[in-house]
Amino acid sequence: MKVINVVGARPNFMKIAPLYHALRKEDWAKRHIVHTGQHYDLNMSDAFFRDLRLPDPDFHLGVGSGTHAEQTGRVMMAYEKLLLQEKPDLVIVVGDVNSTLACALATTKICFTQIIKPSSLPAAQPPSYSGHRPLLAHLEAGLRSFDRTMPEEINRIVTDSLSDILWTPSPDADENLRREGIPDEKIIRVGNIMIDSLEMLREEIQRQQMCKQLGLRDKDYAVVTLHRPSNVDTPVVLESICDSLVQISKKIRIVFPVHPRTRKNLISFGFIRQLEETPGILLTEPVNYIRFMSLIFDCRFVLTDSGGIQEETTYLGIPCLTLRPNTERPITVEQGTNKLTTPAKMVKDADTILCADTFSSQVPELWDGRTAQRIIESIKEISGSTY
Ligand code: UD1
Repeated sequence: MKVINVVGARPNFMKIAPLYHALRKEDWAKRHIVHTGQHYDLNMSDAFFRDLRLPDPDFHLGVGSGTHAEQTGRVMMAYEKLLLQEKPDLVIVVGDVNSTLACALATTKICFTQIIKPSSLPAAQPPSYSGHRPLLAHLEAGLRSFDRTMPEEINRIVTDSLSDILWTPSPDADENLRREGIPDEKIIRVGNIMIDSLEMLREEIQRQQMCKQLGLRDKDYAVVTLHRPSNVDTPVVLESICDSLVQISKKIRIVFPVHPRTRKNLISFGFIRQLEETPGILLTEPVNYIRFMSLIFDCRFVLTDSGGIQEETTYLGIPCLTLRPNTERPITVEQGTNKLTTPAKMVKDADTILCADTFSSQVPELWDGRTAQRIIESIKEISGSTY
């Protein structure tokens, strides 16, 4: 079985790595990694491949940045050519970035023509032709924020509606898919794949002690990450977030690895100096997986607008403030350590965390580091145990 694992942007790498390693142990699977090139900086891409022990991608489409239509279109055009050349049996897309959507669309629209010459056909009859396409599987299916102003929500809805196999992380995801009319037999709950990456690298993460390298003490700092257009693309919103960060930094040191989109806007809106000159705030370049997870392991709390970090903090029992009006990962609020906040409320919410002694939280079912193995079983079952 020829399996293509598609990756494009930073949050994809830790989702594909455990699956790639699990597939490597299966002699029936010929696996390839296709990198669309949506993220291309060393510290947004290559550093993650190294940390997650992934080989160089077998194919790199090099599409780079652009508007949504440009980026999606460029991925589709390049990926379609690759599909025709490689003719995979199964394509696995992960998460909700533009590359996920583009490769899902190209996969379901492709048609490989096959010449059928069954021995039962009388010799006089010409061979017949049939068209087929690869199976499309979506890993991390079913998440919904119900906010269609988020580009990722559109990517999730379309990718799920096209997929043949929907591997979900939690019961709410199953329910969302059923509500959209996806048949039960396509929905397979496998758990949270990112926890597999975290467990695979736990020892190295714990050895790293990144906070000490930055001159910080265990539990004596907060980590901030921001990159959503709704937070960083509008000057008035970004300004109010910066002001709140300065307030919070008077109570606890802040480490803020800055995403390229955010850095560009902090510079062009003229806010970067305010942050750089605040003694309690440390701005860094984006940090690779092991060093970043080490920062998360030892911090007091996280303030973020990322999707994945909401899940990682829930698993680790670390308080998380999510700077968004909604989340596609409600289980992290219901069972875990996550709380939604706003630029106006974040100082007070940070104070509440700093004053609390303990937090009760629960790790959702199947977030156990064995998701990749469940996916392998699922592939075998779907393919009728041919493999
Ligand atoms: C993308 C995903 C988002 C994900 C995020 C993680 C979509 C719609 N968005 O957002 O869901 O949470 O990745 O980072 O797919 N840039 C660089 N170097 C890079 C990559 C980007 O400088 O390696 C800059 C470029 O100026 C680019 C901008 O960042 O225009 C935004 O990159 P893009 O991939 O379009 O979106 P993200 O904001 O990273």
